[in-house]
Amino acid sequence: MSKNQIASELSAPKHIAIIMDGNGRWANQRGLPRIAGHRAGAESVRRTVEGCKNLGIKHLTLYAFSSENWKRPESEIKALMQLLERFLKEKTKEMMAHNVRLNAIGRTDMLPKKTCAQLNKAIEKTANNTALTLNLALSYGSREEIVDAAKLIAEKVAAGKLSVDDIDNSTISSHLYTAGQPDPDLLIRTSGEFRLSNFLLWQLSYSEIVILDKFWPDFAESDLYDAVTHFHSRQRRFGAI
Ligand code: FPP
Repeated sequence: MSKNQIASELSAPKHIAIIMDGNGRWANQRGLPRIAGHRAGAESVRRTVEGCKNLGIKHLTLYAFSSENWKRPESEIKALMQLLERFLKEKTKEMMAHNVRLNAIGRTDMLPKKTCAQLNKAIEKTANNTALTLNLALSYGSREEIVDAAKLIAEKVAAGKLSVDDIDNSTISSHLYTAGQPDPDLLIRTSGEFRLSNFLLWQLSYSEIVILDKFWPDFAESDLYDAVTHFHSRQRRFGAI
């Protein structure tokens, strides 16, 4: 199915989430340093954002740096942060041209000051764009997100602003970092691993999952279209018959 058919004939998923895995192994296979894999991965990010926009997808969430990634060697963390800064600096113009709004989810206050400043600058600049919301999950862990939501809810209960009896699914959803955005309809993970890796555990409850047996730097626009086509071929019943 062509991308035009996907975009026009079928209702596209509203929200796609991606675990971008395999940058290190991609580099390793080529005898390159791991950062070369991350650099190639950043190019895949650009292609994917463009592809999602072409398909009319309104929300894209990319797992760019997990809370566990802080355990990596300092040199790799530093290189990743520099890559992110450069990406934000260079791509803000493109995001403006394509009407893409940047958002970040995670404990972003843990990022280096310079990275955080660059991130906030891009978020502010693109705040009024409406075609696609690009959520970068940075210093993100889903359990931490749920803990943070529980704390916010507990504070409201303690202050008498919320009654325990009124807490339901929507209360939790509206206190997560993704508050106000629909849950992902589709999760894509590259590099063939069948794991959620502490990513959007609450939000992925009903998502379709596509695992691709290729590394993230090799993820092409055609893989995105195939995943979306596959998504349409699956019947989603949300527990009903
Ligand atoms: C997983 O591959 C990838 C990451 C931990 C970082 C993702 C970063 C990028 C795609 C590039 C920069 C991002 C942006 C938004 C500009 P891995 O390192 O775990 O690979 P491995 O499992 O093969 O070691």
